Amino acid sequence: MKYFITLAIIVSITLSAISQNPDIDQKVDSVLNLMTLDEKIGQMAQAEKGALENIYDISYYSLGSLLSGGGSSPASNTLQGWINMYDNYQSIALESRLGIPLIYGIDAVHGHNNVYGAVIFPHNIGIGCTWNPELVKTANQIVAKEVAATGIDWTFSPCITVPQNERWGRTYEGFGETSEIQKIMSGASIDGLQGSDLSNPETILACAKHFVGDGGTINGIDQGNTIVTEQILRELHMAGYIDAINLEVGSIMASYNSWNGVKLHGHDYLLTDVLKNELGFNGFIVSDWKGVDQVNEDYRDAVKRSINAGIDMVMVPDRYIYFISILKSLVQDNEVSIERIDDAVKRILKQKFLLNLFDEPFTNNSLASSFGSVAHRNIAKQTVRESMVLLNAKNDVLPLQKNNKKILVAGKLASDLGAQCGGWTISWQGSNGNITEGTNILTGIQNLAESSEVIYSENGNYNNPVDVAVVVIGENPYAEGAGDRVSLNIDMGDINLIKNIKEKGIPVVAVLISGRPMIISEIMPYTDAFIAAWLPG
Ligand code: GLC
Repeated sequence: MKYFITLAIIVSITLSAISQNPDIDQKVDSVLNLMTLDEKIGQMAQAEKGALENIYDISYYSLGSLLSGGGSSPASNTLQGWINMYDNYQSIALESRLGIPLIYGIDAVHGHNNVYGAVIFPHNIGIGCTWNPELVKTANQIVAKEVAATGIDWTFSPCITVPQNERWGRTYEGFGETSEIQKIMSGASIDGLQGSDLSNPETILACAKHFVGDGGTINGIDQGNTIVTEQILRELHMAGYIDAINLEVGSIMASYNSWNGVKLHGHDYLLTDVLKNELGFNGFIVSDWKGVDQVNEDYRDAVKRSINAGIDMVMVPDRYIYFISILKSLVQDNEVSIERIDDAVKRILKQKFLLNLFDEPFTNNSLASSFGSVAHRNIAKQTVRESMVLLNAKNDVLPLQKNNKKILVAGKLASDLGAQCGGWTISWQGSNGNITEGTNILTGIQNLAESSEVIYSENGNYNNPVDVAVVVIGENPYAEGAGDRVSLNIDMGDINLIKNIKEKGIPVVAVLISGRPMIISEIMPYTDAFIAAWLPG
């Protein structure tokens, strides 16, 4: 007992001395030198919070990180519910021998989108269409504040994929199809999320993803094979990472896809030789969800190849005890060097010190008041306005008149907040209906109409005279591979809806809600204006 008290005193003196020390690298080395192999390997493990077998595994295994996957919310999906959950997990982490704080990650990819009442921004496909990096930086500053308001330290965004095939279900997570827009928006997003000082409580750690070539797979098949020359890989898919690294992005997520048949999670040339050594990335590489498992059917070999390739933290996310035992055996058998382990742990600890987690591990409650605020929503509205793409407008049908007109609004998506938010909203796949706070398209038009009358008919079967019809068509929510499509054609139901209204002689304004460009040639002749609205949130 006397030994443990003495050790605890030494540790606390060391850690307190560290916290005043200005040099991050010295702090990191000082903590690393105190750590056992078990504690080092624990820091490399990230568990899904819902998969914790015992909540005290956090301190027992000295877990480095927890995440909430899409939809993985506390029982009370409220701001306070998240704060209570985060602070509880963190307090348990601090009970470990060295009390190294957790870093908690989440996919806040278009606002703090798991949390009810958070401001939901347009998905990146719309953000890219703003061509407004200053606005995008401001939007990401708001996302950072709303994430930090719940205690959470780290978002798995921005997704800086460069989608080359619109059949891919993750097309909407990218800013656009060129490296030019990827570079512009990658920088603006990371600058907004991380700012210039990660110890600022209003900033959070960003994660540029998914490195590299996720948007170039054959036929847009999710997690597929990207067959391109190294020149194309660098010029088209990698360009935004250079801007991200120049902005000191703290983490980068490895991609599920393969490059010319080799899984990125086990690609030592791209992860270590190129990303870390050539491009100088000094943050940490986190795997994707079970991404390590895809490297080889034999999990031990998969862990060995992924860690040796340069993965620093493994999003296990469920069998974290097994992962820890496997990695420990690999080190003991000299199949993974202690130098590789130390490098990974130092990279992780560095970001935890930059985030000031050792001194301020718990939620900063000063941010709660701005969560979901009108001021935040006004920025989101401006982002929506600038994300809209007007493809066609004739016969002076736009703008709609607030007064003295009859405006028909048609289409089931017109009153569907969940559809306009898309995937990664409240749940992983998203869903139709009133899933959170927000304004749907119909309500938005009703709110702005003054003496003009707004009539809603989901199926468009309204036979009294109207001056104009706004017809909302498009896709239901999806995420990742669930959104992979073979055809990009507009659904026949949407085509008939527009034709039926037009054939009554009513001018038609079509609004397309979609996560990708779609083939609209058949309905264009039946529209007087056409707006690509993407997924406006
Ligand atoms: C998902 C996605 C990745 C996300 C992660 C955690 O499978 O590929 O973008 O950050 O898992 O939810």
